[in-house]
Amino acid sequence: MITPHGGKLVNRIATDADRERLLQQSATLQSITLNSWSLSDLQLIANGAFSPLTGFMGQKDYLSVLKDLRLSDGTIWSLPITLPVSKDKKNTLSLGETVNLKGEDGNIYGLMLIEEMYEYSKEAEALFVYKTLDQKHPGVIKTFEKEEVYLAGPITLLNQPLTFSEDYKTPFELRKIFQELGWETIVAFQTRNPIHRAHEYLQKTALENVDGLLIHPLVGDTKKDDIPANIRMKSYKALMQEYYPKDRVFLSVFPAAMRYAGPREAVFHAIVRKNFGCTHFIVGRDHAGVGDYYGTYESQEIFNQFRKDELGIEILKFEHAFYCTKCSCMATSKTCPHPVENHIHLSGTKVRAMLRSGQFPPKEFSRPEVVTILMKELNQNEKSDI
Ligand code: ADX
Repeated sequence: MITPHGGKLVNRIATDADRERLLQQSATLQSITLNSWSLSDLQLIANGAFSPLTGFMGQKDYLSVLKDLRLSDGTIWSLPITLPVSKDKKNTLSLGETVNLKGEDGNIYGLMLIEEMYEYSKEAEALFVYKTLDQKHPGVIKTFEKEEVYLAGPITLLNQPLTFSEDYKTPFELRKIFQELGWETIVAFQTRNPIHRAHEYLQKTALENVDGLLIHPLVGDTKKDDIPANIRMKSYKALMQEYYPKDRVFLSVFPAAMRYAGPREAVFHAIVRKNFGCTHFIVGRDHAGVGDYYGTYESQEIFNQFRKDELGIEILKFEHAFYCTKCSCMATSKTCPHPVENHIHLSGTKVRAMLRSGQFPPKEFSRPEVVTILMKELNQNEKSDI
């Protein structure tokens, strides 16, 4: 099994015995309410997906991540994992205090020992992480909406958030499953979209060289016009049923929030998949990008600054993939000599518009089974929105 990032898989989930005791203690503690983004961070720290992090980041790590893409001890880490609270809230808290971490539903999900409280610059964070201050960038919008003070310290998870629980596996669980399946090399595929033919091409090309494929869709917060995760899950299952070998592919959800941070998020996505037991990670065109903020292959180039041994997971880079009508198959510019007029590729925006207006995208772009589900579910969703 691949070594987790930083050497050891973190486990901050309270054991049954501790849990009862801690829940009783929690009645006397102050509470902080986490939004869905922070709640998913809490869950992923606790289950070891964010190893070696054991809590929300202190200032030294935070600044080091922004400036150097590393934790203060030199371990590669590309995105801040922080817990914002308001200045007013901060004034009611003390260092050394343990607080309840509640969800917006009022349930207690965990505890945190407050080791640090620090202010930060939203401008600096946005520029380092997203490389822009443009208020139209979904990650920048979220940054400026955040409260002003970060709390830091180790956490303990008392209750699992329950979204997509039947398709959720912790890094410990996935590593065990891979072992039982006898897979030594596993390629992970990150996505926030339905799986179209280009995605399938990348996955299957990679699978030719490894034992198994982990389809690991992100199901945390995404921007409004992305296709909702519950609809995507139905489409993944239909696709896998018809087109994937059952003993070579595993589907499990990745409950993180989407940052749209392009290159930095690609590094984060890769490291986290290593913690889930994967040995290889696919990075295609404009990975985790949005609009035109990042170069088409910037999310691949960022990996060049790291040594392979410190990254630990192997990055499989793919060029822009499309269906070529002359080749009569999926291809990239590396494998197809024909001009773009022969290439079938649609942007995500175009596909969503087609689906919503009842137009079937071509089967060379997306499998009909996927399109049928998306169209039905999206139209139902819209009707229920009205
Ligand atoms: S992401 O935001 O989760 O990265 P998306 O779900 O669109 O977005 O992409 C999943 C993975 O497939 C990413 O690695 C992305 O770079 C890659 N990808 C998507 N479309 C293509 C394409 N046409 N050609 C090559 N790679 C692609």
